[in-house]
Amino acid sequence: MNNASARASGRPATRLRPRSALVSAVVGLALVATAVVVSSSASAATTLGASAAEKGRYFGAAIAANKLSDSTYVGILNREFNSVTPENEMKIDATEPQQNQFSFTNADRIVNHAISRGMKVRGHTLAWHSQQPGWMQNMSGTALRNAMLNHVTRVATYYRGKIDSWDVVNEAFADGGSGARRDSNLQRTGNDWIEAAFRAARAADPGAKLCYNDYNTDDWTHAKTQAVYRMVQDFKQRGVPIDCVGLQSHFNAQSPYPSNYRTTLSSFAALGVDVQITELDIEGSGTQQAETYRRVVQDCLAVPRCNGITVWGIRDSDSWRSYGTPLLFDNNGNKKQAYNATLEALNAGGTTPPPTTAPPTT
Ligand code: G3I
Repeated sequence: MNNASARASGRPATRLRPRSALVSAVVGLALVATAVVVSSSASAATTLGASAAEKGRYFGAAIAANKLSDSTYVGILNREFNSVTPENEMKIDATEPQQNQFSFTNADRIVNHAISRGMKVRGHTLAWHSQQPGWMQNMSGTALRNAMLNHVTRVATYYRGKIDSWDVVNEAFADGGSGARRDSNLQRTGNDWIEAAFRAARAADPGAKLCYNDYNTDDWTHAKTQAVYRMVQDFKQRGVPIDCVGLQSHFNAQSPYPSNYRTTLSSFAALGVDVQITELDIEGSGTQQAETYRRVVQDCLAVPRCNGITVWGIRDSDSWRSYGTPLLFDNNGNKKQAYNATLEALNAGGTTPPPTTAPPTT
């Protein structure tokens, strides 16, 4: 007899024998456990964005303005993702094709699409040696420094309040073992060009998170990773405004997912910045590809300040490396095995506390 039947019979519950109480407790616990399992599996999110949001994170995609008329593409975008990055439309050649003549039409199409649907926007990118318009490629010295700062200020001001995170500076370090800065016309204006760009971005849009973004910075032992780490450490120590580090994470046979990836994420995070996986794609197919996606997601969820993942395109056919079929949807827009592994890993996460949502502090 349990307490309920004791009450129903009018007999005092104190007549329960100890063994009956134990059985009752065990049965009760089993019921509670069953309820928890049922409710947790019943609430498993069915899209990448919804699942990431449950973990206090975003799951985004790089998108192209000229594909916003493709209904399959937009259908996947709106269903699955809660953040976007313009793949090319915010680059310097797109936004300032002639000096001091700004063009935001295509970037605006993406920003408006995202904001009207509650998606975050990652701005990409304000200062980069590549995809510079002709007028900038031919500049140097003080004129180039001022033109770069003017570009940062004008674009970040135009989008003030609309951008979650800016890739303020992109790919400023050299490949290989030197750990040196990449030689470029921007670098030749002086080693402080990166911090100057960050200060200008902060002044223009104090609410946006300001990121340094690069590739081949995934393996903790690589000289390039260590060099970026030392720069971020130096910026934090000197109060240069930086809030996040973007790891592009383009993985293939030449640049494979490294087993120390989680160490890289957590080491950057320990400097007091958010870490974002900004351009994820993994060449391959089937189980090998799916399991690598799973590990990347698990690594991010294990690091509280890894607060978002962006894949660099939607369908394989949208990818800059389409031959490598590196994305989560096939050419027809069907979910791949890699998609299922990614969603499973997102849904399985949750032991990690949510990342900081504090606004920029410097
Ligand atoms: O839009 C023109 C089109 O009108 C023209 O007919 C065609 C002819 O080549 O070119 C088209 O522009 C291309 C553009 O992508 C849009 O498709 C450019 O040539 C091409 O260079 C450009 O490539 C982009 C690349 O950056 C340029 O550096 C890729 O789409 C874009 O995915 C890629 O993104 C970069 C990130 O910004 C930084 N990290 C690496 C990543 C992959 O390279």
